[in-house]
Amino acid sequence: MNIEQYLAENKAKIDASLLRYLSEDAAIPKILREAMEYSLKAGGKRIRPILAVASAQAVGGTIEPVMPLACALEMIHTFSLIHDDLPAMDDDDFRRGLPTNHKVFGEGVAVLAGDGLLSFAFELLCRGECLEVIRDVAQATGPSGMVGGQVLDLKAEGVALTVEALENVHRFKTGRLISVSVTGGAKIGGADAAQLETLKSYGDKIGLAFQIADDILNVEGDAKTLGKSVGSDAKNCKSTYPALLGLQASKAKARELVSEAIAALDGFTAAADPLRGIAEYVVLRKN
Ligand code: IPE
Ligand code: IPE
Ligand code: MG
Ligand code: MG
Repeated sequence: MNIEQYLAENKAKIDASLLRYLSEDAAIPKILREAMEYSLKAGGKRIRPILAVASAQAVGGTIEPVMPLACALEMIHTFSLIHDDLPAMDDDDFRRGLPTNHKVFGEGVAVLAGDGLLSFAFELLCRGECLEVIRDVAQATGPSGMVGGQVLDLKAEGVALTVEALENVHRFKTGRLISVSVTGGAKIGGADAAQLETLKSYGDKIGLAFQIADDILNVEGDAKTLGKSVGSDAKNCKSTYPALLGLQASKAKARELVSEAIAALDGFTAAADPLRGIAEYVVLRKN
């Protein structure tokens, strides 16, 4: 299986749907639409929506019914990035290869563009008609999910955390949204209880590995390839895996999680090959 091709093909489908959904709402004020579209169009790997699609396919589902969930996840993620970059949070000037949203539209509109994307995502989710998935996404996003994790991340600046505490921050701020992408896609794809349990374990593992890889790229990645600043975690005194464990141990931990995630899929057929490929991509990626 050619994972690069799989990622590119699905990214194109998701990109098209994201903009189409947004264009269907004619009542969005012009400047707000521009700000929301700016960050969405800036690019991004679309790993969460692609995970939702791949997970549905792994249990025999098709892409079409997953599209509202897939696009909602990307809108929620993009909202989290716009707010993450604000001066009050990580104070970053570049994202997805372009100046950050607040640098272009100002802080007020950037805050509201994030709010707009978050609310639009839930409207989109309601089209999927699965209340359970809507609840799962709300929990993974909100105070006991990504938003909670972002608060833990902010409060951990300049603080020496234990490995357990740092793992907790990473699981909340990044892991939960990645994991719900996998389980949400699986639920819409018709997974049974045993499949769901396995996929949750896969999602939790790659979710943590994804943030460890993000920490590593912030140390030794290339800013141009990444499309965002490097060295900012150290500048902000962030609690990260490389800061706590060093680069080598961080890489070993991320690889171990990916191996475990792939091993968890042992009972699945070749339909889960995209999930296996994405797991490897999580630690091999350069951006
Ligand atoms: C970056 O996420 C922020 C994290 C939660 C680690 P991605 O690496 O998925 O960023 P994009 O969407 O590709 O820009
Ligand atoms: C991102 O964490 C987590 C969320 C946006 C929820 P980081 O702050 O470490 O990610 P980057 O490096 O800015 O993308
Ligand atoms: Mg941050
Ligand atoms: Mg950041």
